[in-house]
Amino acid sequence: MGMCIGKITKNNNKYNKNHDNDDNSSINDENNEISLSNEKDQQFLLDDLPSFNQKYTASYIVLGKGADAIVCEGIINENAKQWSGISNSINKVAIKIISLDQPKFISKPSKFVDLNLKGNSIEESKQHGRDGFFGGVDYYRNEKKKELLLKRIKNEIELLRSMNHKGIIKLLDTFENVNKFVMVLEYAHGGSLFDRIMKIKKFPEEDALIVFYNIVKAVQYIHNCNIVHRDLKPENILFKTPFCNDQILICDFGYADRCDGDNLKELLGTPNYVAPEILLQHPYGKSVDIWALGVLLFIILSGNFPFNHSTQNNLFKLIVRSQFSFDVYKHKWNKVSQDAKTLIKKILVVNKEERYTIDDIINDPWMKPYRLESSM
Ligand SMILES: Nc1ncnc2c1ncn2[C@@H]1O[C@H](COP(=O)(O)OP(=O)(O)O)[C@@H](O)[C@H]1O
Ligand SMILES: [Mg+2]
Repeated sequence: MGMCIGKITKNNNKYNKNHDNDDNSSINDENNEISLSNEKDQQFLLDDLPSFNQKYTASYIVLGKGADAIVCEGIINENAKQWSGISNSINKVAIKIISLDQPKFISKPSKFVDLNLKGNSIEESKQHGRDGFFGGVDYYRNEKKKELLLKRIKNEIELLRSMNHKGIIKLLDTFENVNKFVMVLEYAHGGSLFDRIMKIKKFPEEDALIVFYNIVKAVQYIHNCNIVHRDLKPENILFKTPFCNDQILICDFGYADRCDGDNLKELLGTPNYVAPEILLQHPYGKSVDIWALGVLLFIILSGNFPFNHSTQNNLFKLIVRSQFSFDVYKHKWNKVSQDAKTLIKKILVVNKEERYTIDDIINDPWMKPYRLESSM
């Protein structure tokens, strides 16, 4: 899905194409690369991080781009493997680069100010650049921009380090200097759930169950650590391998926080996934992730958003009333079981006290076939 930010210049010797090409089916069909000659891209080059370059070689092939970061492919240098303690079987890595002085790039979330979307599909959301955070707008525009960004990066690093679960992306290394932060991450060979939905439009129900169950198990772990993710969406759910649905990796803890009860207040989220309690400015906690899981399940089963509107205000009105319907794309929902629809209805409940919890979801009748299978 990567966004095109220009082609690499061929005579550049930093671009090492001679590494093992062990995975031809990686997500990067478009082969977007950070251009070393493009001024705007220069901020993402890693020449000024010698300690990084000792250990890794960045290919600058872009795997994805979020609100704050560019993520590109890289490899661990052969000689570094011996002393770095990184398993010999790991070869490719994902390199998340966050430039600390890049006002143009960071102001991307401001698109939310005048969202003007038509239709109801998540394809359209991407075409219109609806990615990232509406909560970021004011923050990034004021002088404290850098400070806040730094705080978030450190928070993400701290939270990633504190967790250890097969459904959560592993942080292998970090580097920093005055201009940028670099996180070296486990490489998700299977690309994002977003890309997979783009490709297949919607999952057959049995596959949807496998994907969703594994997401829910990872979220259960996160919640048991008293962490709330706050940005669960298909762009932030990756697949370990290109062909399996059962090995998901949740990434992007940039907006995650520790949470013990309903102690959070910040108004942030991605518009289509944001929970009513955030919009209503009630103190909130883990329930916002549950809401996002409901939105996700709706998307996985249909390829459409449950809540969408051409203006953000109207979108938020739909969300605070939980006004969604299985009738809009009837031909798709006719083929989906009643159990799946019932589960969505039990998750997308406005009152967070009445909403399903993570354990309720796991114990729901729709989950039963896979729950039994995966416990064997
Ligand atoms: N470990 C990884 N392996 C493969 N692709 C990744 C990895 N981490 C991130 N990406 C891609 O990069 C995109 C942006 O990364 P993310 O951590 O979500 O950054 P942001 O905080 O800016 O949203 C993701 O949506 C995904 O497509
Ligand atoms: Mg992201």
